[in-house]
Amino acid sequence: MGAVVEGFDLATASDEDFEELKTRTYRDKILVLKNQDLSPERFLELGRRLGTPETYYEPMYQHPEVKEVFVSSNVSEGEKQIGVPKTGKFWHADYMFMPKPFGLTLIYPQVIPQKNRGTFFIDMGKAYEKLSDELKATLADAVAVQTVRRYFKIRPTDVYRPISKILEEIETKTPASPHPAVFKHPGTGEQILYISEGFTAELRDSAGNPLDDSVLKDALEAVGQLDPACEHENIHLQTFEKGDLLLWDNRSLVHRALHTATPEPAVSFRVTVHDHLPFYEGISA
Ligand SMILES: [Fe+2]
Repeated sequence: MGAVVEGFDLATASDEDFEELKTRTYRDKILVLKNQDLSPERFLELGRRLGTPETYYEPMYQHPEVKEVFVSSNVSEGEKQIGVPKTGKFWHADYMFMPKPFGLTLIYPQVIPQKNRGTFFIDMGKAYEKLSDELKATLADAVAVQTVRRYFKIRPTDVYRPISKILEEIETKTPASPHPAVFKHPGTGEQILYISEGFTAELRDSAGNPLDDSVLKDALEAVGQLDPACEHENIHLQTFEKGDLLLWDNRSLVHRALHTATPEPAVSFRVTVHDHLPFYEGISA
């Protein structure tokens, strides 16, 4: 999994170059663009060349000057915390819980830990191929109900609010989204198993009846998402160094941040983009 891109320059890249970046991302899943030196504005500009950026719906994650840039940070600037610490420490695909997820995620690390750096990935197309025929058959026309409920982060403004009000707000603002448990990747034709430990609450059959909980558990187990040590053969640890910009296929990949109990300073910027293809054929949103 993955490919390294040397010599990419936003200032001179052509539309064809951007098309190729997308095609390669669908094929190789993660591209590492080396030696990038971009302001938040230019980083967003790069995202715009790939499609339509999606601004994260919760303002506390937004960059103060460029709201389309999502900030993951455990470094506070004076009194003020910019961005949100310890994001994504559970298996998920970005915006999986929304009616219309996006196809591409770009991460541009700013402050890089010396050890324990990197992000875990599982290619859910390859992982699906390896499932037993029986599990594949059960999942083939199932619906996965995706929700942010379990991992919604309490905001500073939630202090002193009753938890019932917060839960009510989550249900109103981000009701659970049903998506096919398996869909065809519009860029490659692969079958992708679209479930995650973090966001998938339930599987239903095509008639809407809940499947036994063991089906979801067995599938998550088989693909490696329930391995607490992250040593399953499907799991790939992608590391990075200063100047790297990661572009990945948010249809095929689930990912999980690597955070430790004693974190070193870490800051990264993220831009997310709807590409020119439907997320999957027949998506209603
Ligand atoms: Fe993420």
